[in-house]
Amino acid sequence: MKTKYWFILAVGVIGFLSCAPKSMKTVADSKQFLFGVAVRPSDLLDPKDSKLLQDNFNILVAENIMKLQYLRPTESFWNWSDPDKLVEFAQKNNMKLRGHTFVWHNQNPPFINNLTDKEKALSVLQDTINQVLTRYKGKFYEYDVCNEVIDDNGILRNSVWMKTIGSEYIDIAFKTAREADPSVKLILNDYNNEYAGTTKGDAFYNLVKDLVTRKVPIDGVGFQLHVLAEQPVNEKALRANIQRFRDLGLSVSFTEVDVRIKLPVTPEKEAAQQKVYLDLLRIALEEKVSSFVLWGYTDLYSWIPGTFAGYGSAHPFDRNKAPKPVYELMKKTLADYKR
Ligand code: XIL
Repeated sequence: MKTKYWFILAVGVIGFLSCAPKSMKTVADSKQFLFGVAVRPSDLLDPKDSKLLQDNFNILVAENIMKLQYLRPTESFWNWSDPDKLVEFAQKNNMKLRGHTFVWHNQNPPFINNLTDKEKALSVLQDTINQVLTRYKGKFYEYDVCNEVIDDNGILRNSVWMKTIGSEYIDIAFKTAREADPSVKLILNDYNNEYAGTTKGDAFYNLVKDLVTRKVPIDGVGFQLHVLAEQPVNEKALRANIQRFRDLGLSVSFTEVDVRIKLPVTPEKEAAQQKVYLDLLRIALEEKVSSFVLWGYTDLYSWIPGTFAGYGSAHPFDRNKAPKPVYELMKKTLADYKR
């Protein structure tokens, strides 16, 4: 073929490719925006599901398998096989990883729930963090070192770690993590902590400020954002909160986003849900949050109905794993965003 025809063909192919609809992941990558999802082991095994992850997300977190109940069910047994597969999958597909979580009051194995001795609790805590961050050194972008340490009244939760070690367990967890992997961003994660001017939001901020003042090695905070469609986003209080953490030199991540609807679903409630998802995404983009992670993508495997009776339809893909209109709008919001 003559050079001229090759040239015309090449222009045609490039033109076609640039008009072809871009995947969410391509859009997110092009905006350097970390858009992710919590996953289950089967999401990686089923070829259709794993393709969906590859097309849509550039950061992953394990929904359950890195919680100590599963990762370290007894003191001497470690369940590495699923986390190893997750790490391998993410690396192969150019995705980043969030770690979730070391210190929590839920989903601990019996040998942790039954701890009473301070020295023993300290050694279990430090050994757990060391083993995980040594094995996966340099592989995680962010890690929820501690999760939900403040209770609903705004005081330190009376967890097994608090009871056995005392409030310094937080300092110790962060210091141990920093020493084990200096490159991973160390996060304190919680729910109902996204608004300045609320009991929990302010208690969370004061705790974090104290950690920073005392030079505890924390890099950022996580707002879980398990929110309700019926409650519009309080943009002013959210932005004010993000700003005050940034003023402390910390990053903010939206770590577990879902927007539950009180059943039955109606078009009005869906419209309200769309507004909440889009407001959160827009604010995340404008405020340059560190990552925006959905707590699951499909209603099929949702944790919501089992935890919040009478609520559902919280995720941007339906039970057939097809994107809902809200997801297309999220994609458009991201694509239209000018950095
Ligand atoms: C939830 C999971 O989604 C469920 O599958 C599991 O049964 C319970 O935990 N805050 C967190 C998450 O930090 O780890 C929780 O995940 C949801 C609330």
